[in-house]
Amino acid sequence: MATIIAGISGAIGSALAARYLQDHPEQTLIGLCRHPEQVPDALQRDPRVHLLAWDAAAPARNPDKSDIEALLGRYGGVDDLIYAAGLLHDDSMFPEKRLEDLTADNLTRAFQVNCVGFGMLVQALARGLRGKQLKRVVAVSAKVGSISDNQLGGWYAYRCSKAALNMMVKNLSVELPRRYAPIACVALHPGTTRSALSAPFSQSLASLQVHDPAETADNLFGVIQNLDESDNGRFVSWNGDDLPW
Ligand SMILES: NC(=O)c1ccc[n+]([C@@H]2O[C@H](COP(=O)([O-])OP(=O)(O)OC[C@H]3O[C@@H](n4cnc5c(N)ncnc54)[C@H](OP(=O)(O)O)[C@@H]3O)[C@@H](O)[C@H]2O)c1
Repeated sequence: MATIIAGISGAIGSALAARYLQDHPEQTLIGLCRHPEQVPDALQRDPRVHLLAWDAAAPARNPDKSDIEALLGRYGGVDDLIYAAGLLHDDSMFPEKRLEDLTADNLTRAFQVNCVGFGMLVQALARGLRGKQLKRVVAVSAKVGSISDNQLGGWYAYRCSKAALNMMVKNLSVELPRRYAPIACVALHPGTTRSALSAPFSQSLASLQVHDPAETADNLFGVIQNLDESDNGRFVSWNGDDLPW
């Protein structure tokens, strides 16, 4: 059995990969990211880790479906599929403060990375997993994607795309048990974590509890390992609490 981590190059994705390998020495990890050569050296050198180039915003450049099927065939199924890719800002986009900051391009890119990439990845894997096991599907979401918890506004592209991701999780939690039972498909808020994604907001985060990636990986690993079918369809926080949709 293998575990798949999409976004293995990120702070949370790479820390979670290290945590899996530490706890399960026999584990095979399939790691997806845009630039495998930028994944931390220890993961690149680890013979248990298979890295594949994958771009959530450019499906045409993704691994061939038959390559994925061959890889999944080799391992007989997937324990955990973790989607830890995400986009909040980059060279050409920054979270919007007001309506005038909205651009169609930034909205589209956020949706591609934060939601569309997840749905298309599950679809691509489902074919290779026909007749095999899939135990847990975990989309790393964000509390700011909660619709009912939104009191502050702003961050349009990120909030909307994470809310869409949450709906993708909810839909899959209805459909996936018909193919793979038992299964837990959840949205998981990692808690505020030091990373490239949160770096521009370090001043405003000063009043919050901020975790190092290794702490977050411990927290998420603890939650994920305890997920079973009774958790299917939850929006869950890093400490195991339910979050409002
Ligand atoms: N850090 C926090 O405080 C926090 C809070 C709430 C939720 N989250 C969520 O946690 C997840 C991980 O975030 P992080 O803090 O670890 O951020 P990070 O270090 O910036 O990692 C982001 C990951 O997303 C990947 N990514 C971005 N654009 C991509 C694309 N077009 N195709 C494929 N992969 C792409 C990055 O890959 P590249 O190496 O290719 O750029 C990287 O692996 C995200 O979903 C984020 O929304 C984080």
